[in-house]
Amino acid sequence: MSLTAERSALAFTRHRRLRRTAALRRLVRENRLDPSAFVLPVFVDARLRAPEAIRSLPGHMRWPVSRVHEIAERAAAAGVGGLLLFGLPADKDERGGGAGDPAGPVPSALRVLRERATPLALVADVCLCEYTSHGHCGILDGETVDNDATLPLLADAAVAYARAGADVIAPSDMMDGRVAAIRAALDAEGHGDAAILSYAAKFASAYYGPFREAAECAPSFGDRAGYQMDPPNRREAIAEMATDLDEGADALMVKPAGPYLDVIAEACSRFDVPIAAYQVSGEYAAIHAAAERGWIDLRRAALESLTGIARAGADIVITYFAIDAAGWLAR
Ligand code: PBG
Ligand code: ZN
Repeated sequence: MSLTAERSALAFTRHRRLRRTAALRRLVRENRLDPSAFVLPVFVDARLRAPEAIRSLPGHMRWPVSRVHEIAERAAAAGVGGLLLFGLPADKDERGGGAGDPAGPVPSALRVLRERATPLALVADVCLCEYTSHGHCGILDGETVDNDATLPLLADAAVAYARAGADVIAPSDMMDGRVAAIRAALDAEGHGDAAILSYAAKFASAYYGPFREAAECAPSFGDRAGYQMDPPNRREAIAEMATDLDEGADALMVKPAGPYLDVIAEACSRFDVPIAAYQVSGEYAAIHAAAERGWIDLRRAALESLTGIARAGADIVITYFAIDAAGWLAR
């Protein structure tokens, strides 16, 4: 027997065979990123006349209503699937009443985008924290957020956004019962077609820091741990998602994404609705900051982080990398 024959008779598997060339690796790839699954967060600021750079989110701007179509056109040209709109109002108050103002930044932006017949799916974030003077996600009763008193305000905002043309309403406040309240209000107002993507498993995360600077919605006292989820809890996340489905959610979100891939994977195996994952501001900013120092390669790290989220099973990926990643994938 020849030496080679003897060697190939050894009992082990050659996993490396299919990794040998770029062509083979491409062929056997198990997951592929598709820009049409990406959703780009967009900040619309009622106080601006020209776009303004967001320091904490490199490459991102706050947009005036009058120019929001520019970023929408860029996203559409890149093949991105949708936009997630956040508003910064001209004025804030104790009750966050501006969230439901039909003349507010989000409804105004939605009307502009609808008039321009954008091909993108338009998702409107619903929460009060950008609109309250204290920065909490609901109405206060002393120092605690009053769950039930907050629900009608969330429902009003949802109706205002649906009326202005939102395809999808995405409540991010983490009040109990908000999906039921929003569904009932949408149906009562003739918006039975407006879908609800619930931020069902939203954790009280350190990774929201850059967003709070961008959206000026940091709480003025305390934190959000009394309403957002405690990071160690996976079963509770499943319970949150089951509740929101029961209440009428059409799709469910896990947020943040990177530190919660197990929750995403479990959500995908348990629930037969689209699962969205939100790669949040701190995940994006951390990759940028390390790349700026020359410690990691921006493009490779960004695509690897998105690949992990897709591999966990997410159907929709909300990411600040949406346009850049779509461009990298096209090359
Ligand atoms: C507000 C809201 C937050 C994010 C989305 N909606 C911040 C928070 O809950 O404090 C975070 C998004 C991000 O960090 O990119 N309800
Ligand atoms: Zn909020």
